[in-house]
Amino acid sequence: MIQETLITTINDQGQPHIAPMGVHVEADDYIILPFKPSTTLDNLLNTETAVINYCDDVRIFAGCLTGRRDWPLSPTETINGYFLSDSLAHSELRLQRVEDDVLRPKLICRVVHSVNHRPFQGFNRAQYSVLEAAILISRLEMLPWEKIQSELDYLRIGFEKTAGDRERQAWDWLMAVIAQHQQAKGLL
Ligand SMILES: Cc1cc2nc3c(=O)[nH]c(=O)nc-3n(C[C@H](O)[C@H](O)[C@H](O)COP(=O)(O)O)c2cc1C
Repeated sequence: MIQETLITTINDQGQPHIAPMGVHVEADDYIILPFKPSTTLDNLLNTETAVINYCDDVRIFAGCLTGRRDWPLSPTETINGYFLSDSLAHSELRLQRVEDDVLRPKLICRVVHSVNHRPFQGFNRAQYSVLEAAILISRLEMLPWEKIQSELDYLRIGFEKTAGDRERQAWDWLMAVIAQHQQAKGLL
């Protein structure tokens, strides 16, 4: 199974970095697959630690992809690092081994400590729409415009029916990037 999470890492100066990443879960292995080049990859190879943040505030996913990376952090308990203060839960990881690859290495990690912070509130379609739209934006230069447009039209249906304030703000940030892309490519 792949869980869409936010990974926090630190560099050798202790500077935190937040990135949305899909974590592949295989028994006790938590596998992170960053595309090169990646700050998450560099930090994880350097410190051999990372944090998985389970978070339903989709503004953080959309924010990281639209230049808003400054989110409240708190210090972790068993490794040197930080978790997102707004996460529902977090797991502290240690790197076990690396399967290198020119494009997308596999970082195989184990959980050394987990903490629950607040209860899961149920699924929300607008949160799903924001996550999918954020993934589309991370691939804007690779996907044909018609595909982006038709997927956004579909995602907008569930979004409009179920969004709250956080989801609306996240969606607006993403749509501003889409509008810039349209303008830059002469797609208006
Ligand atoms: C829901 C979601 C999942 C993502 N999963 C991955 C992933 O597994 N690997 C990856 O390289 N980028 C993924 N991305 C895109 C990265 O978050 C983005 O490119 C980021 O800047 C990664 O690079 P960094 O480590 O340098 O910050 C994902 C984005 C979203 C919105």
